[in-house]
Amino acid sequence: MLAHEIKGEGKPLVLLHAFPLSSKMWKDEIGYLSSSYKVIAPDFPGFGRSPVKEKVSLNSAVQDIAALLGHLQIRQPVFLAGLSMGGYTAFEFFRQFPKRVGALGLFATKAAPDTPQGREKRMLSIQALEKFGMDPFARKIVKSQLGKTTQEKNPELTARVIGIMKDSAPAGAIAALRAMADRRDSSDLLKTISVPTLVMAGQEDEIVPAAEMQAMSDQISGAEFHAVPGSGHLINLEQPKAFREIFEKFLYKTAF
Ligand code: MLT
Repeated sequence: MLAHEIKGEGKPLVLLHAFPLSSKMWKDEIGYLSSSYKVIAPDFPGFGRSPVKEKVSLNSAVQDIAALLGHLQIRQPVFLAGLSMGGYTAFEFFRQFPKRVGALGLFATKAAPDTPQGREKRMLSIQALEKFGMDPFARKIVKSQLGKTTQEKNPELTARVIGIMKDSAPAGAIAALRAMADRRDSSDLLKTISVPTLVMAGQEDEIVPAAEMQAMSDQISGAEFHAVPGSGHLINLEQPKAFREIFEKFLYKTAF
């Protein structure tokens, strides 16, 4: 069973974390959302408190999430939200269990698969993790994940994000890099999504540029799109107030 945080009562809201973080990245959201919802934030295998699995795929991650929901006896449709790797997984969950998704939150993520260059980069990351471990990898990757504004003005957040990353097992991160490199193209799903969908991008995100996310959002019928100023890739951590305002407003008007 995936380790997970669970708090609150009400309709189920599942938060899927980014790479190479853990459910800890959702600490604030779990706090404020749990006054109205049952919030569930799993740790993917090898991240946070979930033990490493040698071979993972987005498909196995989806099976793990379905098993967790079964264990928690959640049978009704959930609000499924994911940031980056969490979003790739949300797409795959939607592909396999469309009826179990009542609404979607797609944050700093994309439907497209890796480009050949992207896959090549992942293989280099795997080599670096095998050779040097998590610490230097976390210090390097945090620079691409956090936006310019955060890097200039918020050294505490940089340290906190590195701290969360360092809890992750190198073997877990390696397995996840392989899983992301092998992920399917989810672009075909976009036109089939008919549940309420919130799409959020960071205006300073260099990993998934806001314009790319807007183009993705435009293909989802009725999706609501926001580009958050002053944020890189980790929107909820970098601009927590703006993220909260947009998310709570969306939740308030959304039935799922
Ligand atoms: C993430 O934040 O989950 C990663 O940037 C995803 C990726 O490496 O594609």
